[in-house]
Amino acid sequence: MAADDATSACRSGAPDNSSEAVVTLAQAPVAGDAPLASLPERPASPRFGAPLQAWYPVAREAEARRGVRTRLHGRTIVLRRNEAGAIVAPHQPDLLVVVRAGLVWARQVNGSGQVVPPLIEDSIGGGDLPMIACSEVEVETDYDQAVLGLVDPAHVPMVHDAWWWRASPKRRVKTKQYAPSPFGFTATAADAFASAPAYALTGASRRIAIEFRLPSTRIERVEAEGFRLVNLTTVTPTAPGSVTLRNAIYCSVTPMRALHPFLSALGRAFLEQDARILRRLESRPAPGHPLLFVGAPDQPSLWYYQCKAALSRASDDAPFANPVRATVLQWRT
Ligand SMILES: [Fe+2]
Repeated sequence: MAADDATSACRSGAPDNSSEAVVTLAQAPVAGDAPLASLPERPASPRFGAPLQAWYPVAREAEARRGVRTRLHGRTIVLRRNEAGAIVAPHQPDLLVVVRAGLVWARQVNGSGQVVPPLIEDSIGGGDLPMIACSEVEVETDYDQAVLGLVDPAHVPMVHDAWWWRASPKRRVKTKQYAPSPFGFTATAADAFASAPAYALTGASRRIAIEFRLPSTRIERVEAEGFRLVNLTTVTPTAPGSVTLRNAIYCSVTPMRALHPFLSALGRAFLEQDARILRRLESRPAPGHPLLFVGAPDQPSLWYYQCKAALSRASDDAPFANPVRATVLQWRT
């Protein structure tokens, strides 16, 4: 998040605390790793932009089976089903393609041996946990700005104001426990209340965990008595300055598949709220523009950049050293 955006977002979303520490990315310590103070502030750094060899979703499995043209890192990819029934990208030998969670994921390979975060492991999209909604929105914006929307809690009360997501404009203090998880971090709510009225339908026994995993995957898992739901949101770098925001929801209540068009429309409206803000941001790369992080609401954004720095340093001889440490964060939402 650029300095002005971070400051305005967190002043609006954080508890009013004038003594809140403000740090830049270069000042922030990285636990168990080299201090970032020795690194440059801006670009020509693998900390900015999309990791080139990571996995990204590029299409829905159903549309790929019919044949579809899509984009990744500025290249055009044609997906189709081969004679054996597998989804393939013909004539693209440096591209790996797999189907996971009802989506087609692709990644470039160049033989450099770079460490690649694994795909989501959950077996979702099948009969037990079918996809009940899928939506996507194209946005011309900076890749990192789009990914920050997956981890930044401070933007939620200002961006997502649908009645089914936010019943009251009244702010409350939210407390979440964060812990490192593979190639990222996972948050669990420590409050008795749920922010979104939609969650109330799952009952008081619900457990909600939200995982962020590099490069750009947010996995929200909701479990309650006889109920399971996975809410997957991703950012795909389609071309320089352009991304696709994608959301897919999977639910154990299989009759909800009948609501696919309606729920997909709700998901698209949610993504459009993020897209509208991203389009208004001055999000072109700005060399020398410092990144500021203000207090607890900005901690996940800082972790995002620190995780990317750790990924860029990881290799077969030096495994990914997760910079995240377990902690409790609190903000007003
Ligand atoms: Fe958002």
